[in-house]
Amino acid sequence: MRVLVTGGAGYIGQVLVPDLVRQGHQVTVFDALWFGSDGLDPLVGPSLHIVKGDIRDGDAVRRVLDRGFDAVVHLAAMSNDPTSDLDPDLTRLVNREAMEDVFVASKAAGVARLVYASSASVYGIKDTHDVTEDLELNPITLYARYKAEGEELLAGLVDDRFAAVSVRAATVCGYSPRLRLDLTINILTAAAVRTGRIKVFGGTQMRPNIHVADLADVYGVLLTAPREQIQGKAFNVSTRNASVLELAELVRDTVDPAVAIDIVDTFDHRSYHLSAAKLERELGYTPKRSLEEAVQGVRDALLDGRVPEPDHPKHRNIVWMNTNPELWRR
Ligand SMILES: NC(=O)c1ccc[n+]([C@@H]2O[C@H](COP(=O)([O-])OP(=O)(O)OC[C@H]3O[C@@H](n4cnc5c(N)ncnc54)[C@H](O)[C@@H]3O)[C@@H](O)[C@H]2O)c1
Repeated sequence: MRVLVTGGAGYIGQVLVPDLVRQGHQVTVFDALWFGSDGLDPLVGPSLHIVKGDIRDGDAVRRVLDRGFDAVVHLAAMSNDPTSDLDPDLTRLVNREAMEDVFVASKAAGVARLVYASSASVYGIKDTHDVTEDLELNPITLYARYKAEGEELLAGLVDDRFAAVSVRAATVCGYSPRLRLDLTINILTAAAVRTGRIKVFGGTQMRPNIHVADLADVYGVLLTAPREQIQGKAFNVSTRNASVLELAELVRDTVDPAVAIDIVDTFDHRSYHLSAAKLERELGYTPKRSLEEAVQGVRDALLDGRVPEPDHPKHRNIVWMNTNPELWRR
């Protein structure tokens, strides 16, 4: 398939895109390259093109779509709560208006299938033991609100020629050549490896997580599944639910049993318990990697020199964007 991946140079994209190329797809990445594209550059060739561009530039989006694609994966976004809160106008432009433009332009360009990076954050806080896709969405943050609106927009666009599916991923973890160290398990792993101490805020809150390589697999599955199996649907994607303290213990046991865990108070008691049963039931997909493997991947990369400057701001989205406003201010 000819696949366009917006935001394909990001943390998830730099694992997904090489996978898609390996699977035989022809991939074009459209990305503002806020974090560079180092991990993808060696693969550029007949099966991978990188186009530097901003989804806020509708003409550039349409120009790239004119190249002709069977499918679009839409990842480009201010990709967490803190960066979305940094500049609400910017977030509206990127996560809402430009997103709509990508959806509408993709359909107009004859793209047959769109796979959308929504997020499990669309549920907000739910007491329910297992949060399933049929529950009402209750987005609390700006980030989550626009993610939910994206799903609604797609619901209004799907038809016989345009299929769309939303991916409600848990927090992602594990190694990517564009490494984010601002995601729960990756934060805990970096702390354990580098300082021998982990700080846990609260600890009882449940947090679902997914290994980045499994999430990439899921995108691959959604790109090729029969359209009636995905059309207009949303899928939760999660390896498993664990409390923050359990995650810290898992990181300690994987990195070094001597790592100390300090528990401190928190005002953030948000807790989620996500069910990924629909993905297994309807598409036969179960995650193949454990959360321990995600920890090992980050640990090994930190120890073997693949992350020469773990304190570099580019590993933490909010720090990077705060220190480089010229990247995103226009
Ligand atoms: N990482 C997670 O835990 C997680 C969980 C659920 C959903 N998601 C969603 O998955 C997607 C990818 O997340 P990620 O972790 O890879 O984030 P990331 O920040 O590493 O990657 C985002 C990519 O999008 C690009 N981008 C941002 N704004 C752009 C714009 N205006 N025009 C063109 N490119 C732009 C950036 O340059 C970057 O390469 C996001 O939509 C995010 O909300 C992520």
